[in-house]
Formats: sequence, C-alpha cells, structure tokens
Amino acid sequence: MKKRPEFTRREFVTASAAGLALGSLSPAMQAGQERSDKYSGRTQTRVMIDTDPGVDDALALLLAMQSPELTIEAITAVAGNVPLELTLPNALRMVEIAQRDDIPVAAGAKGPLLRRLVTATYAHGENGLGGAIFPEPKRKPVPEPAAELIRQTVRKYPGEVTLITIGPLTNIAAALNSDPELAPMVRSLVMMGGSLSGGNITPAAEFNVYVDPEAARIVFQSGIPVTMVGLDVTTKTSLTEEHVRVLEGAHTPVSQAAGTIARNALNHYRERGFPGGPNMHDSLAVAGFLDPSILQFQDYYVDVETTGELTAGETLGYSPNTGDLRRKPGMERMPRTCRFGEPHPRSPALAHRQF
Ligand code: BDR
Ligand code: CA
Repeated sequence: MKKRPEFTRREFVTASAAGLALGSLSPAMQAGQERSDKYSGRTQTRVMIDTDPGVDDALALLLAMQSPELTIEAITAVAGNVPLELTLPNALRMVEIAQRDDIPVAAGAKGPLLRRLVTATYAHGENGLGGAIFPEPKRKPVPEPAAELIRQTVRKYPGEVTLITIGPLTNIAAALNSDPELAPMVRSLVMMGGSLSGGNITPAAEFNVYVDPEAARIVFQSGIPVTMVGLDVTTKTSLTEEHVRVLEGAHTPVSQAAGTIARNALNHYRERGFPGGPNMHDSLAVAGFLDPSILQFQDYYVDVETTGELTAGETLGYSPNTGDLRRKPGMERMPRTCRFGEPHPRSPALAHRQF
C-alpha cells in the first residue's frame, strides 16, 4: 500500500490542473472497465498513459499516479515536446517520485511515422521540465518497445484498457498498424490533442496532432471510441502563482516535485514574456477522465488534415447537426470530442481524500 501524505488530491488538482476539481467517476467519460480494487474495494479503471513529458505531462502523470481510481498498466514515452532521449527519463523520474515501482515504463517512437520531429522546447524548456532539475532516474524501461507493450496489454485485457494519450499519437498508431485486430479490443481512447477552434503551433493545428498527423488520422479512423480533450477547453486552464504556492506549501515528495516543475515552468514563461501561465492541457485530460463532470461533451466525426501545406495537423469536426454539407464523411463511427467545456469549481466526492 502506498503512503498517505497529508496533501489532498483536491489541492493537488487545484494546482496541477489549474483550478480543476475532481469528483467521482461518472459514465460520460469513464470509458474503462470498472473492477474491484483488491485493497480498498473501490472500483478501478485499467489505463495506459502515452506521454512526452513535458511540463503538463509531468503534472498529469503525477496526478494519475496519485489517483486510486486508475490501474495504470504502463506508461509509454514518445518523442514530442522534447526528443525521446529526454521524454523517457522524464517519465521514469515521475514514476520514481511517485514511488510507483509497480508501473512499467516503455520507450516508444523517436519520431513521427513519416515526418521529422518538431519539438516544443520554447514552451517546455530544453529538458522538457521547464528547466527543473531532478536526478538521473535509477529505474530502467522495460525491454518491450511501447507499441509492442500497448499491443500486448490490450490483448491481455480485451475490452478493458483505456489509452490516455497526452503526446503525439505515434506509438498508438504503430501498435494499431502492427496488429489490425487490435482496435476493437481497446475500450476507449482519451486524448489531449486537436482543436476545433484553431491551433497553438500553427493557426490551424494543435501541437500533438501537428507533430504526427498521419498517426492521429490512423487513431481517429480506427473505430476506437475517442474522447478528444482539445485546445477548445484546455486553453481555459493556466498555471498561476497561487497554484504553485499551494504545491510548494505541501510537504510531500510528489507535491514538492510538482511545485518545482510548476515554478520553473512559470519562470520560463515570465522570462520569455509569454502572457499568463502555461496551460495545463494534459492534466485536464487526466482530470476530465477522472471526473467527466468538469467538462461538457458534444459528438463529432473528427478527421485530420495530412496534406495541407498550411493546415497539416488541423482537426476537422463534422457535427451530426451541421446540416446539409455538400461533402461529408461517413459519420457512422462518431468519435466523441469535447468543446466549450467549462472547468467546474466544485469537487463533490473527493474533496477531502488524502493521498
Ligand atoms: C500539447 O502539446 C504539448 O506541448 C503539451 O504537453 C500538450 O500535450 C498541447 O498542445
Ligand atoms: Ca504532452
């Protein structure tokens, strides 16, 4: 059993997901198979997290690893915000900080399926953690490559595993490409990625989809039920001085590490003259999975632009209510997306839960 320090998850989420609060799981976004937690009798959801840490990835990972609702089967690293040589050790560092020796970490793709890697050091710093320094991790990745571990785990628990993706979708697409029968065995996929209202790396594209649009297209067209937590809603979160102080004020290893990352990220933003604080995109995807009541959802068929010279990586949403479009795709496989979600200030069920 893990230790239970005194920092409540509400405080953690308030800081790490920038004001979002967590409640109990509810059916709207809770896509994973519930099963009984052998320790506490709580229900748990089987997930794998694919990530490119990344400041907001790191905080999202800490949040997920502190969440008793989740059985995290593995964390898989992918190149994105920084190269894999950094995202992999950063993921291992987070697992060590959270003292989650039980979670395997796998190395994934070093670059997109077809394109050259584009990174986001302008936002995440050269080391991916806003310049926050942590020791070299002692933990090693498992020998299986990420795509193979995803394939094996989904096949081991058919219909049970939810993939939470908070980086480019290269590893997931590679797993799907390697095993044509895999997609129907995936319970669901919750992604931070895409946007139906403009981009953050180009006017059209959100970073995770822009980095590997071909991979994103494979995922959207796979038939896996997708919940897309896009920029439409994640840009409503941003880290503030107050959030950082809450994290720094709680004396547990996880909150101290989160506070260090958040402080460095805030300083990184200030030094570059960026307005406001960094958005907690990835933390919101995890928080929204834990408590769907903090977001609102609408159904869209989503496709990805892969050939546009200026619009590669743009996600296009076809609403069933759009009306009489002259050209529209078959919408029978309608991935769910969320837009216009308003962070909910209340944490009804878990407000006083201790880690
Ligand atoms: C996404 O891109 C990355 O920079 C963040 O970690 C997040 O996953 C936001 O566009
Ligand atoms: Ca990310």
